[in-house]
Amino acid sequence: MAKADFNVQGGRIFYKGELIEAGIAVQDGKIIKVAKSASLPTAGETVNAKGLVILPGVIDVHVHVRDMSQKTKEDWTTASHAAAAGGITTILAMPNTSPPITTARALKQYKTIARKKSVVDYGVFIGATETNTRELTTSESCGIKLAMGSTTGNLLVEKTEKMRSILETSVKAGKTVVVHAEDEEMIKKRFLALKKRGREPPPKIHSVIRDPEAARIAVSRAIRLSKQTNAKIHIAHVSTRGELIEIVNAKKDGLLVSCEVTPHHLFLSEKDYDAKSHKLKVNPPLRSRSDVSAAWGALLEGIIDCVATDHAPHVLEDKEQDYWSSPSGLPGLETMLPLMLDSVNKSMLSLAHVADLVCTNPAKIFRLKNKGKIMEGFDADLTFVDLKREWKIRGDEFKTRCGWTPFEGRIVSGKPVKTMIRGAIVFEDGDVVGGRGREVQFK
Ligand code: DOR
Ligand code: ZN
Repeated sequence: MAKADFNVQGGRIFYKGELIEAGIAVQDGKIIKVAKSASLPTAGETVNAKGLVILPGVIDVHVHVRDMSQKTKEDWTTASHAAAAGGITTILAMPNTSPPITTARALKQYKTIARKKSVVDYGVFIGATETNTRELTTSESCGIKLAMGSTTGNLLVEKTEKMRSILETSVKAGKTVVVHAEDEEMIKKRFLALKKRGREPPPKIHSVIRDPEAARIAVSRAIRLSKQTNAKIHIAHVSTRGELIEIVNAKKDGLLVSCEVTPHHLFLSEKDYDAKSHKLKVNPPLRSRSDVSAAWGALLEGIIDCVATDHAPHVLEDKEQDYWSSPSGLPGLETMLPLMLDSVNKSMLSLAHVADLVCTNPAKIFRLKNKGKIMEGFDADLTFVDLKREWKIRGDEFKTRCGWTPFEGRIVSGKPVKTMIRGAIVFEDGDVVGGRGREVQFK
């Protein structure tokens, strides 16, 4: 039998949809065997996983890494360290950087920075504009980002005709289009009317300006365009019942539509707005309890394909400005998996379902090669968790440069304790201990 570089032993591993007691043999960064201890090949070393659960490396398909002119908020070093500490082994990065990534050239340059600094594996989306359709055919991206509503940065496509041509191009390029679906016209109208009144509004106004109907209308338009063009679309951060109804119907019609939900739309609601602070300003905004329960319902019914952070770090100094100046976005890399594990401990969903949502399905949707499963031939990307560890979430202990979390003070059960990427331990006992990120490959 082939000799392994090392065997992971003593833990419970998530294999073929079940949690089983078995070991994993790793050679040259790949999983070469999954078997009971007695049947593992001989190995130079053993990684002891006693008392731990081992998931396939978690994949986050929606991360705003920043860097370049926004290093004070985050860069590839701090974002990837935060990812590793959150048990995440692969991140797909968004293009609304400064400057934005809207050309194949800019994409390559951004990936050069990632190659030098990232400790986790990565892909990068190219951003669609009303004039860069030809750039979108590049094979260098992990997908195309289409912002139907304005948000941080200046990426925005307002004209339906342009959206259609972007979707047509995506089909030719064989890429999935990730859609930020909020209707720009509705948002703009309300925003300008409010601004005219001149008064400083309370934080909860954000959920009125960008209301559920603005999201539903945009999702409905995106689905219609996907039907017309046969484009594969992925709806980012669904947060309302109305959007979910549109998505269920599209799925019933066999359209190529998938979707994600963020932890902040599952674990926070409008009730969490602080009367004085714009800290929780995010696009799309926090929703009513009724929408939160619709999101949970859809998650449990399998309508939602994955959970993704939409990690969008801004420093508190920026967030604590007035409503007009406070940037939208919340950090999430270090809290997504813990919050999901806590939900497993509270019997809200199964661990198998969590693995589908944050490991297997993200790899499937973006066709990531050798990622998303513990299986022979796959990358040895492993997330070791202590499922029962109770701890308090504290932003000042996090690795994200922004240094805060919307979940401050929450006590959760379940903690990622070790993160392995292609056979190398990257995070252990609270520290990043190495790691060299590599760009994902596609099937
Ligand atoms: O709240 C948000 N922040 N929503 C987005 O779509 C972008 C993000 C950011 O980049 O800050
Ligand atoms: Zn985003």
